[in-house]
Amino acid sequence: MVQDYSSQRVAAFLLMIKSEIPNRKSGFKIWDCCAGSGGKSILAFDVLQNVQLTVSDVRPSILSNLKRRFKEAGINHYHSITLDLTWPLSKAMFSMSGTGFDLIICDAPCTGSGTWSRTPEQLFFFEREKINHYTALQKKIISNIISRVNKGGYFLYITCSVFKKENEEMVEYILQQSTLILIQKELFVGYDKKADTMFAALFCAASSDDQ
Ligand SMILES: C[S@@+](CC[C@H](N)C(=O)[O-])C[C@H]1O[C@@H](n2cnc3c(N)ncnc32)[C@H](O)[C@@H]1O
Repeated sequence: MVQDYSSQRVAAFLLMIKSEIPNRKSGFKIWDCCAGSGGKSILAFDVLQNVQLTVSDVRPSILSNLKRRFKEAGINHYHSITLDLTWPLSKAMFSMSGTGFDLIICDAPCTGSGTWSRTPEQLFFFEREKINHYTALQKKIISNIISRVNKGGYFLYITCSVFKKENEEMVEYILQQSTLILIQKELFVGYDKKADTMFAALFCAASSDDQ
């Protein structure tokens, strides 16, 4: 698959955990919780290979897109569910996928400010209050999913935003809300490389051996 600069950098974050996969006897379970049309899941599948995927999004229509893209990418076995993550997780989710995941990817809904070099008209129409709207949404989503990272598992938070409030400040929020440990965070500046700017932060949960 041809990847742009920012996707390559996210792939490098995923590579950091690849060596963990053979150690998980019951398979490596990934939940792409804001899956959209599946870009990050496809990336994770390409990088990590032998994984069990669960995907969810609030929009059923985008999950239909995902289904098509997954087929093209050769991903045939996965769970898919429509979920609004501003609400506590439904029983349906757990009956389908069990209680926890080895990796949760949260490519959060955001201002999209990292894409404005491609779409300058969005910058023109942008209202600053939108930042607060998205940070409130991001916090709600994070609070509802964060406890679902398995012991020894990982949490990958991603945005295509340039704003500290959606990026570094959300990292602080995640650290406050959980016992996760930050492994690495980075803003991948893309505008000088004809790519979107993205932010990624990778966290891990202590394994039972560490406690
Ligand atoms: C940045 S996009 C994800 C892009 C996707 N990961 C990809 O690579 O193609 C964020 C996604 O979050 C979803 N979303 C927004 N609000 C949500 C909510 N309350 N619960 C779950 N998903 C939500 C949107 O529908 C959107 O598809």
